[in-house]
Amino acid sequence: MIVARTIDQVRDARLNLKEPVGLVPTMGALHRGHLALLKTARRSDQSVIATLFVNRSQFGNPEDFSAYPRDEEADLAAFEAAGVDLVFMPTEAELYPKGITATVHPGRIAHELEGTRRPGHFAGVATVVAKIFGLTQPHRAYFGQKDWQQTRVIAEMVANLNIPLTLTVIGTVRDSDGIALSSRNVRLTSRERGAATSLYRGLTSAREAWDAGTHAPTSLAEIVSNVISQEPLATTAYVEVRHALTLTPLSKTIPPFVIAGAIEIGGIGLIDNIVVGNGLTLAEELNG
Ligand code: PAJ
Repeated sequence: MIVARTIDQVRDARLNLKEPVGLVPTMGALHRGHLALLKTARRSDQSVIATLFVNRSQFGNPEDFSAYPRDEEADLAAFEAAGVDLVFMPTEAELYPKGITATVHPGRIAHELEGTRRPGHFAGVATVVAKIFGLTQPHRAYFGQKDWQQTRVIAEMVANLNIPLTLTVIGTVRDSDGIALSSRNVRLTSRERGAATSLYRGLTSAREAWDAGTHAPTSLAEIVSNVISQEPLATTAYVEVRHALTLTPLSKTIPPFVIAGAIEIGGIGLIDNIVVGNGLTLAEELNG
């Protein structure tokens, strides 16, 4: 495994990789969710590039950025064990030597849900992902369903800017209590963690209600919020039912749709979603 810390090193190493090349961008603090992406890339592509960069510009809150878990040594060992060929882990000065002087401005899709809770977040994500795409030139890039809106923002960027690659979205990996794996989970106390399971419990109840014939978006959102409100430690930031691909509001829940929610627990924001219908397959088809 080659570890590139500079732009010259990653460009040089990329030239020698067997194609097709798969890319898994991460901010480190790796867990089984990241590993699922790496595993799929390893199975599908001749070479796998992983990137590790905690991207300050996508954090609205400086404390969230400094508290973000970092463990370079463990992450490098995990990349190695996952069969990664090339890791790109630049410093901020290397990636943004003159600061941020040009950015990608995602459209409407970036300004709701997480975009409302975290203004500027998706511009930060889209900009760094565009840079990483440019530096690594992958044929395929892998993203997780846990960050569903992120996959849609990136899909739109890829389509609008004609970036020649295919996106693949991998289903959310969960712990046995249902909680979506997230690098931020390590910051929860055990009581907070118990409360954090309410988001997925709520989403599951809504899904069951939909199967049983409750189809009004507001009723489904209410089911999720009600489950969360039973946990005094958890606050609902939003719960929304949207078209899975365009993220536009719906008057009727016709698949594919997504129920997406965010909660705050002890100052930590956690997100989760479920997609009903063949949204995942469609996501792949539309990105080609
Ligand atoms: P990060 O949170 O490290 O996540 C890296 C990738 O792993 C993302 O595509 C994310 O959706 C996926 N992922 C995280 N938790 C997952 C889970 N439980 N199951 C499946 N996939 C999961 O997302 C980012 O970093 C950044 O925004 C990034 C794209 C790297 C840009 O900075």
